[in-house]
Amino acid sequence: MPIYHQLGNIPPKRHTQFRKPEAEGAGLYYEEVFGTIGFEGMSSLLYHVARPTQVKSLLSPYDVTPKIADGNSLMMRKLIGFNISPESDYLDSRVPLLVNRDVTIGLAAPQHSLTRYFYKNADADELLFVHRGSGRLRTFFGSIPFQYGDYMLIPRGVIYQIDFDTEDNRLFYLESHAPIYTPKRYRNHFGQLMEQAPFCERDYILPRDLETYDEKGDFLVKIKKQNTMHPVVYATHPFDVVGWDGYNYPWAFSIHNFEPITGRIHQPPPVHQTFQTDAFVVCSFCPRMYDYHPLAIPAPYNHSNIDSDEVLYYVDGDFMSRNDIAQGHITLHPGGIPHGPHPGAYERSIGKKETQELAVMVDTFRPLMVTEAAMDIDDGKYYQSWLEP
Ligand SMILES: [Fe+2]
Repeated sequence: MPIYHQLGNIPPKRHTQFRKPEAEGAGLYYEEVFGTIGFEGMSSLLYHVARPTQVKSLLSPYDVTPKIADGNSLMMRKLIGFNISPESDYLDSRVPLLVNRDVTIGLAAPQHSLTRYFYKNADADELLFVHRGSGRLRTFFGSIPFQYGDYMLIPRGVIYQIDFDTEDNRLFYLESHAPIYTPKRYRNHFGQLMEQAPFCERDYILPRDLETYDEKGDFLVKIKKQNTMHPVVYATHPFDVVGWDGYNYPWAFSIHNFEPITGRIHQPPPVHQTFQTDAFVVCSFCPRMYDYHPLAIPAPYNHSNIDSDEVLYYVDGDFMSRNDIAQGHITLHPGGIPHGPHPGAYERSIGKKETQELAVMVDTFRPLMVTEAAMDIDDGKYYQSWLEP
């Protein structure tokens, strides 16, 4: 996240004595560097009330490896996402659907706030897209309020909880083993988003309202690492930071603030790009004016996506190039075989002035495997939906 941000109190010089108030004994706060890519990526400096290393006990780890049902196929699929059952517990609610060694793509319908324990993904950056629900992501960097349409980016290693305002929540989520960034081509040499980028720093939702708890006890943190969940009990409250500054922290961005780039003729998917990694891209398809050449065909051309698997999560509006698609559906178009508009959609799009479609696309550079949970919500006949009637 190439914006410098600061919350709470920090010492004027890094790596120097930073003492608690006299009334609290004038002991030292405990500095922690929280970075990525060794010491070469973005990092922040945090100041804890207690040493963040006080492991009290290690409980039995358990396996959370996604169960693969189809590891190698060219079948185009449509998953009925809202058929994922709501679950009380946040982590239990997360259902991995499409996975490879770079990324896990899943859906979740958590009913209740995560308050009984804390959660940390030690392997992957998490990107949560809020389809339904609102609330507050709580971390040791502060809180991020969220609502419908927000992407929340949580860098690996951030300990968090989530408060939901109601029980009706639907999340589309990614776990990425490669760090998730904004596209490099949107940023100048200094890291600032340039004028031609479809969003700007003003659109970012940054952490606020730092919560600092000086508490000792038993604090359960579930730490995900290598497809294993490790329950670890710490002796001090994980949210004990009095201040921090730097570049590595959770943040959010509303898809509704993505400004679409349009043209006289059809614009290719990269104009919709929102995030990049070494292993996949994320694009936002937002309500926009259609192509305005007098002979334009607004529906996309057939495309061979030979180098990537294409996943579309349909959020809202009318999906012009697809027949029989509804909110919460996921389509998988595997690399290797072309796909395109459904029968009639190409012709139907001519003369249309605008679209209200809202969708999130993930293109992965390595093939995806389909989990058993995905098979349970697969309509099973989508791959034939391009046949002429
Ligand atoms: Fe496509």
